[in-house]
Amino acid sequence: MFSKPDPVSINEYQEEVKNYNAPPILNQVILFYEKLWLFKQSDPNQVIKEDLASTLGNQIVNIADTYVLSRSELKELMQRKILNSVDLERPAFLTRLAQDYKIDELPLKSLDEAVAGELVFSTLIRRRDPHEYNHSYIEEDIPVFYDHGVSFATDGGMLLASDFFSHKGQGFAGSWRVEMIKDKADIKKLWRKLGPEDRHFIYDKDKFISAVNIITEKVKERLDSTEEIISNKGMIGAEVERITEVMKAVKLSYLADIELMLKIVLANSGAS
Ligand SMILES: Nc1ncnc2c1ncn2[C@@H]1O[C@H](COP(=O)(O)OP(=O)(O)OP(=O)(O)O)[C@@H](O)[C@H]1O
Ligand SMILES: [Mg+2]
Repeated sequence: MFSKPDPVSINEYQEEVKNYNAPPILNQVILFYEKLWLFKQSDPNQVIKEDLASTLGNQIVNIADTYVLSRSELKELMQRKILNSVDLERPAFLTRLAQDYKIDELPLKSLDEAVAGELVFSTLIRRRDPHEYNHSYIEEDIPVFYDHGVSFATDGGMLLASDFFSHKGQGFAGSWRVEMIKDKADIKKLWRKLGPEDRHFIYDKDKFISAVNIITEKVKERLDSTEEIISNKGMIGAEVERITEVMKAVKLSYLADIELMLKIVLANSGAS
């Protein structure tokens, strides 16, 4: 079920699969059940957040799937030399390569809806970093997002939406903006060109707002099952308890949180 992809088949992603100012990490891409995934190792709490976020957003927003690797799977990846370096002592997961999705697999099939989805979801799970290095486009204008390392109000004091949106700077919610563009050719021209900024391209403000309202209700309904999802996954520990409390609190304020998000992202966007 695991194999090395043909380097030629993934070469087109050379300049996309990388962090800001860092070299490409295509050597971390593997095939798993015929799909492309990026291998990531992290600490246990990070893996919980990544996997929980992906499950909560699955089939509601365009969030990359995750797969948490067992120790024996890690061993297999190491022994069969599918990856150059594997640390058997650290938790690891796969995140489905955004560029590998086909449009039929995604719930939100237009730019305005997909951006609405990422911003609603990031607000409600208090995910901080929806910037240009944490999403990629398929078919030139459909974003799929990933990287939930700073989510579930991880930074102290970020639970209340008023706090969450008061912090500004790269990745912080007070700096999130939508930017109107006319044509999909503009996206590839602008995407990542200025570094990890927090702008999100949209075509149509009204379509974006209407998608925000529809998706908010869907995400809220899914978040109501957070405890059930956590229990089905067998997740336990202090971080899991903290996340459960965060999601209970969000339930009480979610509509006002989304209103605040809209006010912030539409400020000076040229979309008024
Ligand atoms: N699912 C994915 N699909 C496509 N590219 C991805 C995916 N996940 C990560 N990447 C690429 O790898 C880069 C680094 O990954 P990611 O953003 O998850 O890690 P990070 O920003 O270093 O955060 P962390 O410190 O949490 O690992 C991203 O900027 C992106 O280019
Ligand atoms: Mg990132």
